[in-house]
Amino acid sequence: MSLTIALSKGRILKDTLPLLAEAGIELLEDPEKSRKLIFPTTHPEVRIIILRATDVPTFVQQGAADIGVAGKDVLVEHGAEGLYELVDLRIATCRLMTAGKVGAVHPGRRLRVATKFVNIAKRWYAEQGEQVELIKLYGSMELAPIMDLADLIVDVVDTGKTLKENGLEPRDLIMPVSSRLVVNKTAMKLKQARIQPLVDQLQAAVVRRQASHVHA
Ligand code: ATP
Ligand code: PRP
Repeated sequence: MSLTIALSKGRILKDTLPLLAEAGIELLEDPEKSRKLIFPTTHPEVRIIILRATDVPTFVQQGAADIGVAGKDVLVEHGAEGLYELVDLRIATCRLMTAGKVGAVHPGRRLRVATKFVNIAKRWYAEQGEQVELIKLYGSMELAPIMDLADLIVDVVDTGKTLKENGLEPRDLIMPVSSRLVVNKTAMKLKQARIQPLVDQLQAAVVRRQASHVHA
């Protein structure tokens, strides 16, 4: 019974590999140093595929991957129907926030908000009763207020360094974010004997890690 796990390069890959190693799954090759997109592991029936972070929910939802790891921000933005969110891996933690130029006040007209999280932003501003014009961007959101493309942005914030270095300040918290283990619903039924132990081992690894942080 083969299993395909979808991960994205960068922080999710870096933070997920140690957890998978605790569950007995290790890559045979360093994906950060390879152009390959499919990687065998020490477990003959488990392979890892490398995708863009925003594509992980799509692959898992459609069954092109059985399991994936994706940020809560990406999952909520995607909608993520057709998959189970089973474990909060507590990695890649950050906050989805609004941000604007330091000291800038409401322009007194319809706000322009630049973001790659248009669905989340649309819903959040509607809940605030604020009419906004959304501007879809794919990266470097921080530039938008500075170049007067937008009044505000919606983006993830961790240390706040990126905002600070670009003359911006955080405003409202939309949601705390961490990465989640997601599983295709059909795969969960058909491959439960293989998937459930892995889910349990990853959950246990997360709990162990939390406990050692508390006692450290
Ligand atoms: P893409 O490559 O598709 O544009 P991305 O550049 O957002 O995606 P990453 O930067 O690897 O991909 O982010 C993956 C996830 O990590 C995000 O969805 C978010 O949940 C979390 N994340 C993003 N930035 C940070 C950060 N600075 N600190 C901690 N976690 C973060
Ligand atoms: C992410 C995000 C912010 C930044 C926030 O970018 O898009 O720009 O982190 O982190 P901070 O609050 O600690 O500065 P990332 O580092 O992933 O680079 P990217 O633009 O390539 O996604």
